[in-house]
Amino acid sequence: MNYKNIRFHSVEDSINLITKYQEKTYNIIEKIFKDTPRYDKIKEVFDTLDDKYFMAPASGKLDYHCAWPGGLAQHTLNVVRHAISLSKTLCPGMYSLENVVFSALFHDLGKVGDGNEPYFVPELDSYWREKRGTYYGHNNNIVQMQHSERSLSLLAKFGVPIEDIEWQAIHRHDGFYTESNRDVLRHHREELLSYIMHVADCWSCKKEKHDLVNGTIRPICM
Ligand SMILES: [Fe+2]
Ligand SMILES: [Fe+2]
Repeated sequence: MNYKNIRFHSVEDSINLITKYQEKTYNIIEKIFKDTPRYDKIKEVFDTLDDKYFMAPASGKLDYHCAWPGGLAQHTLNVVRHAISLSKTLCPGMYSLENVVFSALFHDLGKVGDGNEPYFVPELDSYWREKRGTYYGHNNNIVQMQHSERSLSLLAKFGVPIEDIEWQAIHRHDGFYTESNRDVLRHHREELLSYIMHVADCWSCKKEKHDLVNGTIRPICM
């Protein structure tokens, strides 16, 4: 991947895009959860985390996906969209829209960190930024765990009620990429929702990188 040819958005466009992701996220919360008992708690997660969520990247490297401020919200919105579409096509009527959207909306929540300290910290070395496209590294000052586990840990901290199928879908969303998932996934005993979440996530990551390389999407400025 040639990082020199990547053109970043202007500051103004970047602010507009992050604002758009924020509005879309809150629209989803209003549309899907407004009349559910979890609404207040779910809204509290985003109201409290605020910039910690909406300014977080989805990964540390351009070679992965959405490694820029707002990237986490951008990626999450893609996963929500693909998860809804996949569940309608592959297992219609099996899961409620609320189950699907909740799992997708929170699958990567752990990438904000532990609520105080961030999961990603900026890479300051110009060699890694300019030559290797690495804009963030992992924060070693927080308890180390998989980001899916951190998503569940954060939801617990906020006291957000979660159904077992959602817990499993969030925990397993990295699918076979995570060694510890292999034993359970290969027996195909897991909920279809867990596979839906993995495919939606995987597809979103691939598409985001594909679109970046093709210039269809551009990084938000840092
Ligand atoms: Fe993830
Ligand atoms: Fe993801």
